[in-house]
Amino acid sequence: MILVTGATGTIGSELLRQLAARGEKARALTRDPARAQVPAGVEVVRGDYHEPASVEAAMSGVTALFAVGVLGPGDADADAALVAAARAAGVRRVVKLSAIGTGDPAMGPVANWHLGGEQAVKASELEWTVLRPSLFASNTLSWADAIHSGNPVPNLTGTGTQGVIDPRDVSEVAAETLLAPGHTGRVYTLTGPELLSTADQAAALAEILERPVVTVDVPPDALREQFREAGMSETYAEGVLAGTAYVRKGGNAVLTEEVARILGRAPRTYAQWARDHKEAFTRN
Ligand SMILES: NC(=O)c1ccc[n+]([C@@H]2O[C@H](COP(=O)([O-])OP(=O)(O)OC[C@H]3O[C@@H](n4cnc5c(N)ncnc54)[C@H](OP(=O)(O)O)[C@@H]3O)[C@@H](O)[C@H]2O)c1
Repeated sequence: MILVTGATGTIGSELLRQLAARGEKARALTRDPARAQVPAGVEVVRGDYHEPASVEAAMSGVTALFAVGVLGPGDADADAALVAAARAAGVRRVVKLSAIGTGDPAMGPVANWHLGGEQAVKASELEWTVLRPSLFASNTLSWADAIHSGNPVPNLTGTGTQGVIDPRDVSEVAAETLLAPGHTGRVYTLTGPELLSTADQAAALAEILERPVVTVDVPPDALREQFREAGMSETYAEGVLAGTAYVRKGGNAVLTEEVARILGRAPRTYAQWARDHKEAFTRN
C-alpha cells in the first residue's frame, strides 16, 4: 500500500493515476475526502499535517510513502512528522518531493524550505529518495485568464532560463522510485529537456494556441508590492523574491539527464505539455 500525500495536488494526483494504471494499491491523503477525485480503486483518507493523529492513522498498513509535506517556509516539521509516523507504522520506503536548488545558498531563503524535510528523510533509516524537480510546466496554467482576456502574462524572471519540467514526468519518476529497486539514498534533480525563459514559454504557447501571448516584465519592487497586496507573509514573499532574482541571473539554468535515465525515454517538452493542456487556455 502506497500512501500519497499532496494527493489532490499537481504531482500527487497524477501519481495516483499512474499507480492505479499499474495496478498498485494506493491511498490518498487529503483534508477533504468529499472533494477529492481519485481513480477507481484508490482509497481516500482524511488527514491534515496539523492533526498528527490523522496522519498516524493514515499510515496503517502502508509500505511506501510519497511525502509532499513542504508547501512553504516553516513546513519542514510536516515532513519530519510524516517520516516519524511512517517509521512508527513500519513503512519501508519514502520518496520526498523537494525542489531544485535546495541547500544552495545563492538561491536565498527558498533554498532552505525543503532542507529540514530532506534532512528528516535522510536521517530516517527508511529507504529514501529525494526528488528535486525544476519549474513545473503547469505553473503557466496561472496565465489562462490573462491569455483569455488578451492581457499580457507576467514575467518575473527576465531572460533567466530554467529546465521546465512536465509534472507528469515528475509523477512518473515518483512512481518508479516508489516501486523499483535501485533508488535508495539518491537525490535526483529533475528537469525537462530544454532551457526556457518565460518569453520562450509564451512563444511556445502562442504557437500552439495560434494567438499572441505577450509577456510583461514585473520588476522585483512591483512584485513585492503585489505580494503585499495579496496578503502574502513577508517570509514567504522574500523567499520567492530571492528565488526569482536567482533565476533572473541565470542561476537555475540547469539541465540534467535524470528523467531519461530513470524512465528510459526523453522528458516531455514544454510544447508537448502545452499541446496536451490547450483546452485550459481556450475555454470560454
Ligand atoms: N510548482 C513548481 O514549479 C515546483 C517546482 C519544484 C518543486 N515544487 C514543490 O512541489 C510541492 C507542491 O507539490 P504540488 O504542486 O503537487 O502540490 P499542490 O498542487 O500545490 O497541492 C498541494 C497539496 O497539499 C495538500 N495539503 C495542503 N495543506 C495540507 C495539510 N495541512 N495537510 C495535508 N495536506 C495538505 C493539498 O491537499 P488537500 O487540499 O486535498 O488537503 C494538496 O494536495 C512543493 O513542495 C513545492 O516546493 C514545486
